[in-house]
Order: sequence, then structure tokens, then C-alpha cells
Amino acid sequence: MSDATVIGLGPMGYMLASLLIDAGKTVTLWNRTADKAQPLIARGATLAASPAAALSASPVTLICVLDYAAAEAILSGTDFPSTLGNRLIVNLGTGGPDEAKRLESYIHQHGGRYLDGAIQAAPSQMGRDDTPLFVSGKREHFGEAEPLLRHFAGNLIYLGEKVDAAAHMDLATLSYVYGSYAGFLHGANIAKATGIDVATYGQLVNAISPSFGAFFQYEANAVASGDFRATESPLRISIPAVRRILRTSEQLKINTEMPALVDGWLQRADAQGLADEELAALIKVLQPKVAEVVA
Ligand SMILES: NC(=O)c1ccc[n+]([C@@H]2O[C@H](COP(=O)([O-])OP(=O)(O)OC[C@H]3O[C@@H](n4cnc5c(N)ncnc54)[C@H](OP(=O)(O)O)[C@@H]3O)[C@@H](O)[C@H]2O)c1
Repeated sequence: MSDATVIGLGPMGYMLASLLIDAGKTVTLWNRTADKAQPLIARGATLAASPAAALSASPVTLICVLDYAAAEAILSGTDFPSTLGNRLIVNLGTGGPDEAKRLESYIHQHGGRYLDGAIQAAPSQMGRDDTPLFVSGKREHFGEAEPLLRHFAGNLIYLGEKVDAAAHMDLATLSYVYGSYAGFLHGANIAKATGIDVATYGQLVNAISPSFGAFFQYEANAVASGDFRATESPLRISIPAVRRILRTSEQLKINTEMPALVDGWLQRADAQGLADEELAALIKVLQPKVAEVVA
């Protein structure tokens, strides 16, 4: 028996296997393209002849392949289900909440146990004390996998027994990333159009990001508590600020979609009398009114 099996040796799966070997664990591997395992075999890992053999080799199997469809294709391979009995499978590939529920259901049907994970870092950032990793599924399964998962991510975040919680949280954090990215790109367009050095702009974005991260945490607490009394940043400050970005962008003849979107939200918030509340109150214009929910 190995301590763990890793299925999938793309950049991320390879890093996971490598971290386990670094930690002195015995590791069994399977990858569609077997050659990728060679450097890890040279470090003591064992290559299984099939996914079923890989699964049988360890009490815990970590899957990290392209997507859930690939994970399901591997698991549903010939004679595979009979090997699933009582094994704990942790899927660390990225996917949606429905896919996590479907995979859990498939594995349960075949007598296995399942945890779902969502990695929040690049391969080179794995294995640090602050590396975040979301996990959801039965608490007892988490307890069993935790010692292994801690080798990947010191900031291991267990999100509860609903198996789709990690995938939902992944969508929430990705929304933040892509929303910020939209703003970042608009800022780059302003810099380019006005002759500001875009690389310097990038440095400044990096410099201000930690304090804005702390600000977002503060705003999340306001949304969570429903207490929108202005204590840090009254919404009224942002109304003219975003209008200035929009008007200047129009004058510069650059794309205006990003500031126009946020300006629209702020104008609606102003019309709803939210100007003197905390900026977090902007979420009220993005939520259905009670009457709409009832209808
Ligand atoms: N890399 C990152 O920065 C990062 C960050 C967070 C999360 N993730 C997630 O981690 C997962 C793995 O990512 P990755 O970066 O290692 O590379 P990837 O390109 O997403 O996945 C490569 C792995 O998937 C396997 N694969 C793809 N299609 C397959 C199929 N139909 N059947 C069997 N195996 C298949 C590949 O096998 P072959 O070697 O045979 O092609 C390889 O092992 C993904 O879900 C990704 O979203 C990655």
C-alpha cells in the first residue's frame, strides 16, 4: 500500500505528487501519458498500470486532471467501479458545483467516499504556509485527507459538508478575480491612452492590492451582517469617482464598458437613497427586490 495515489500529472498534479514525495510519503501515480511520471519514479514513486490499479494502491487518491469530464472518464474505465470500495477520492481539478455533486454521487454509488477541492494557486505557489485550498464534503473524510492536503496548502479551508461548497466558493473568488481584472484592463487602457508607463501602473496595482484586499474583507463583513452604516467608505464618494473615470474615458475615446457598468449601478444606488450608506450597500442594487423574489 502507498500513502497516496495521484492521478493526473499536468503541471498541477505533478507538483502535488512532488510535494508528497518531498514530505517522505510513498506515492503511486497514474497518468494518461505515462512518460510524464518518469522523473517522479526516479524519486521513488510507483507507476500503476491502470487507473484501477492506482486506486487500489492507496487509501486516498488525489485526482488532478483537466476537468470533471476527464476525471469521470478515468473513473468509469473498464473494471474500475469494482475497485472503488471504501476508497477516499479527492478531486482537485477545477469544475462547477453540479459536476462536484455528480462525481460524488457516482463515487458513492460504487461504494467509494468523496471530497471535492478547489485549488487557489499556481503550481509554483503550492506547498507554502499561506497557499489556499478550498475543500468540501463529509467532515470525517476531510479529517482523513487533511494531513495529506496540508502538504499542498498551509491555508486549508474546509467549507462544510455540502460537496458543492468548494466549487461555489471557487466561483465567488473567481468572480472577484475577473471583476478586478476588468478594472485592471481598463486602467491599462487609461495608462496607454495618456502615455503613462503601463509597467509602472502594474507595479502600483501590486502595491495597493494588499490594502484593497483588507478593504474587501471589511466590506464582506458589512454584507454578511447587513449593517451598512457608513463606517469606512460612504457610497457617495464613489458616485463622482466612477463618473470621472467614465467621462475621462469618453474624452480619451477608449472603451467605456467597465466604468459604464459600475456607473450604472452607482446611479441606481443613488436613486434608491443609498448614498450615505457604506459602499457595500451597492450590493442592494444587484439583489432582487422582495416582490420580484415572490413573483
Ligand atoms: N495549473 C494551474 O495554475 C492550476 C491552478 C488551479 C487549479 N488548476 C486545476 O488543476 C487541474 C489540472 O491542471 P494542470 O495545470 O495540471 O493541467 P491541465 O492541462 O488542466 O490538465 C492536465 C492533466 O489532465 C490530463 N487529462 C486531460 N484530459 C484527459 C482525459 N480526457 N483523460 C485523462 N486525462 C486527461 C492530462 O493527461 P496527459 O498528461 O495525458 O495529457 C494531465 O494529466 C485543472 O482542473 C486545473 O484547472 C490548475
